[in-house]
Amino acid sequence: MKQYNVAVCGATGNVGRVMVRVLEERGFPVAKLKLLASERSAGKVSVPFNGEDLPVELLGIDSFKGVDLALFSAGASVSLKYGPVAWESGCVVVDNSSAWRMDPEVPLVVPEVNPQDIALYKTKGIIANPNCSTIQMVLVLKPIYDAAGIKRIVVSTYQSVSGTGWKAIVELEEQSRALMSGASPANIPCKVYPYQIAFNCLPQIDVFLENGYTKEEMKMVHETRKILGDQTIGVTATTVRVPVFRSHSESVNIETKKKITPAQVRELLSKMPGVRVVDDPSKNIYPLAIQAAGHDETLVGRIRADESVENGINLWVVADNIRKGAATNAVQIAEILIRDYLK
Ligand code: A2P
Repeated sequence: MKQYNVAVCGATGNVGRVMVRVLEERGFPVAKLKLLASERSAGKVSVPFNGEDLPVELLGIDSFKGVDLALFSAGASVSLKYGPVAWESGCVVVDNSSAWRMDPEVPLVVPEVNPQDIALYKTKGIIANPNCSTIQMVLVLKPIYDAAGIKRIVVSTYQSVSGTGWKAIVELEEQSRALMSGASPANIPCKVYPYQIAFNCLPQIDVFLENGYTKEEMKMVHETRKILGDQTIGVTATTVRVPVFRSHSESVNIETKKKITPAQVRELLSKMPGVRVVDDPSKNIYPLAIQAAGHDETLVGRIRADESVENGINLWVVADNIRKGAATNAVQIAEILIRDYLK
């Protein structure tokens, strides 16, 4: 089997470390793995891979020489600058940042939904990984879209702090510990989020835009339409940060064009790769964030008709935002790339 020289850019980050782990778990055919990060960790940190501790190197313009494929998760500015640099060296980039997602020349891919779009990578050499909240939603939308068409989606998210990075994980831990030990909320430091996240919900993810929505909310709108290849779908989102460490949960309300019953939706979703139906109200069984954490499947339950409209379905969708919402999706894209294009 052919082996590939692979780089992970942002290898010391929350997502980057999991990218390395997922490459190992899935037995990706790696000849040499190059780990890249900033001067903060280059030369100081190592990351385990296949039983070895690999050193972290400083990202620079020469980093991609001789590298076939790079997974990026070091933020949008790094991707904007180094994506084209990598491609000039002949290295294809799977980018987890938002930098290139809406570029018409860059495919935005969830492998179970639109793998055919990967073919478009040849112009810019970049394939974008969608936003974590979008990935888990389009996975369950796809079979419904194909069967009944979708007119409109109303989604509300309950997103874990791990999506913000390790500093947010520490903030939730420290605030929770301090408050449980009797500290006054007035004395709780808020460094990452504008308000206390422990025992609270923040209806703001990313910055506010002129239309009153946040950037995260508009990402869900634009990315969903691009991935499903349908600019006519109405999407409105409210994205909320909740005091959960791992996995995003979503309430998704779908208005379909044709009538579809909850039983038909259950049947379609039970056949969808990457999705597991967890739905038995008689036994209080439904998807939970703690159940999805550490796994790659997107869990769906609470499947029921929206009785307030003629053709409506409600769902509760949960997935690990760091795995399927980021690292695993990127590695799955890389697997298709080497199988079909970089043979
Ligand atoms: P470093 O650890 O050296 O700062 P997270 O999303 O968890 O905050 O992680 C971000 C990742 O992106 C880290 O691996 C970080 O490396 C890396 N990174 C951030 N800025 C740069 C940069 N300018 N050049 C290279 N790597 C960067």
